[in-house]
Amino acid sequence: MRAFARETDVLPRHLIAPLFVKEGIRDPEPIASMPGHAQHTLESLVKEAREISSRGVRAFLVFGIPASKDATGSQAYSDGGISQLGFHALRDELGDEAVLIGDLCLCEYTDHGHCGVLQEGSVSNDQTLELYAKTAMAQAKAGVDLVAPSGMMDGQVAVIREALDAVGKQDTAIMAYAAKYASAHYGPFREAAECAPQEGDRSGYQMDPSNVREALRESALDIDEGADVVMVKPALPYLDVISAVAEISPVPVAAYNVSGEYSMVKAAAERGWIDGERVAIEHLTAIRRAGADLVITYFAKELAERLAG
Ligand code: PBG
Ligand code: ZN
Repeated sequence: MRAFARETDVLPRHLIAPLFVKEGIRDPEPIASMPGHAQHTLESLVKEAREISSRGVRAFLVFGIPASKDATGSQAYSDGGISQLGFHALRDELGDEAVLIGDLCLCEYTDHGHCGVLQEGSVSNDQTLELYAKTAMAQAKAGVDLVAPSGMMDGQVAVIREALDAVGKQDTAIMAYAAKYASAHYGPFREAAECAPQEGDRSGYQMDPSNVREALRESALDIDEGADVVMVKPALPYLDVISAVAEISPVPVAAYNVSGEYSMVKAAAERGWIDGERVAIEHLTAIRRAGADLVITYFAKELAERLAG
């Protein structure tokens, strides 16, 4: 009867698995703060994706970590950049079965670690937009189904849509990080993606955790500019925001269950303080119940079979 009357489900098709691919390593390097995750070689990336896909999760959000960084993050938009190589390798291996999503930002590629280019110490929104457009084109050329701009620059969706259309990539969709908060929950990720800002923080472009009306405005702008999916990030501390965005959004809503949310569960479970698997499923259920159509989560691989069953 419980299953009969259940209002919300979490299925493998709702999940998106984040993966990290790093240039210049010979073996995968485990990420200490995210048990079960690693920075992959091209080879291990493909192997991991194949395994996840065999468990029923077919969507992947890929982050690249280049061997060399510079002030303008040029490896992000180079055709030979590590993320582009990763997309090609995944497409070759998985074919059309896979939904490939390119995280589109510069912070993994800049030597200062900010999501855009700096002018007199702060991020220049408009100069950054041009580089996001170039990155979108490079990722589309490498075969992604969606690009996911995560830098929270104003106007990023419009500029990317225009650039993609101009090179005949009308079919490449945009999953916009629409309401991305300046959160303390990204700690483990910054180790995973090697992208902590050298100086300052991201509060110049990420949102204040106190705000919800602003999230609606950011989402509405992105939808207006052509976003095909809007995302709220992080997920658990922002369930009210997910709900509010889902109310107004004519396009699917994604929520990012971020690294800190994952690692907190893992750490407490390791100590035997909680049943990690049950807590994780409860979290994913809550995120779906709040209104997320899609959930980006580091639990995708380990929970997929359990959720399918
Ligand atoms: C950076 C980016 C971040 C995450 C995804 N893209 C971190 C940040 O803004 O510092 C966080 C993901 C996570 O914590 O799992 N553009
Ligand atoms: Zn960034």
